[in-house]
Amino acid sequence: MTPQIKPLIAGNWKMNGTSSQLTELKAIAAGVSGEKYDALICTPATLLHRAAQSCVDTALSVGAQDCHANSSGAHTGDTSADMIKDTGATHIIVGHSERRTDHGETDANVMAKAQATQTTDMVAIICIGETREEREQGRANEIASAQIKGSVPTDSTPENTVIAYEPVWAIGTGLVPSTDDIASIHAHIRSELIDLLGEAGSKMKILYGGSLKPANAHEILAINNVDGGLIGGASLKSTDFLAICAAVE
Ligand code: PGA
Repeated sequence: MTPQIKPLIAGNWKMNGTSSQLTELKAIAAGVSGEKYDALICTPATLLHRAAQSCVDTALSVGAQDCHANSSGAHTGDTSADMIKDTGATHIIVGHSERRTDHGETDANVMAKAQATQTTDMVAIICIGETREEREQGRANEIASAQIKGSVPTDSTPENTVIAYEPVWAIGTGLVPSTDDIASIHAHIRSELIDLLGEAGSKMKILYGGSLKPANAHEILAINNVDGGLIGGASLKSTDFLAICAAVE
């Protein structure tokens, strides 16, 4: 944790869940307090509106997992930040490694999506992180620096932007970097954010993501400069997600 920063525990349901999954969402909404941490679930686009309606008057926020950089136009199959805002959602994940890999998204694409999100008065969760090969080559910090410079708009604020560090090799694999490695790269990300954004960079949330589970949450969330988590698999079950929330000290 970073002193003075309220942690964010964010779930990323990815391409999982139809109507019946809203039961889990409601259980999460009923179980989060909002006192020590903020809580968010990023649902598939098809559930956003119903999810946001289910969370009215609760401490749980709802977010999307991607958006188009333009606000409208001839982009068949895409969804704009304006449209997402219209559902009642408040956050958009941009630049998740699965989108960078599956859809060839570049840092420039991610920056444009982050700008679209910020312009729409929503919070952009900008994802960065190295592959296994890049880590083995000792290039994790270098990759994080390049992705920050390439994908984080220079007028980003702690109110409209969150960074999620997600080593690609830890996502969905059960593998997690050591606490020392997480501490070291989060400190590096913090210093890069301060270089890029000044004072705003010292207050921006930096989430850890990649096989974050109830069993390791307490240890990981206690690391300096880890201001919450972005959770995939363990966010699909309300009991797991709430157990991670409970690990926030
Ligand atoms: P995981 O996914 O928790 O299933 O590893 C994290 C993510 O991709 O956001």
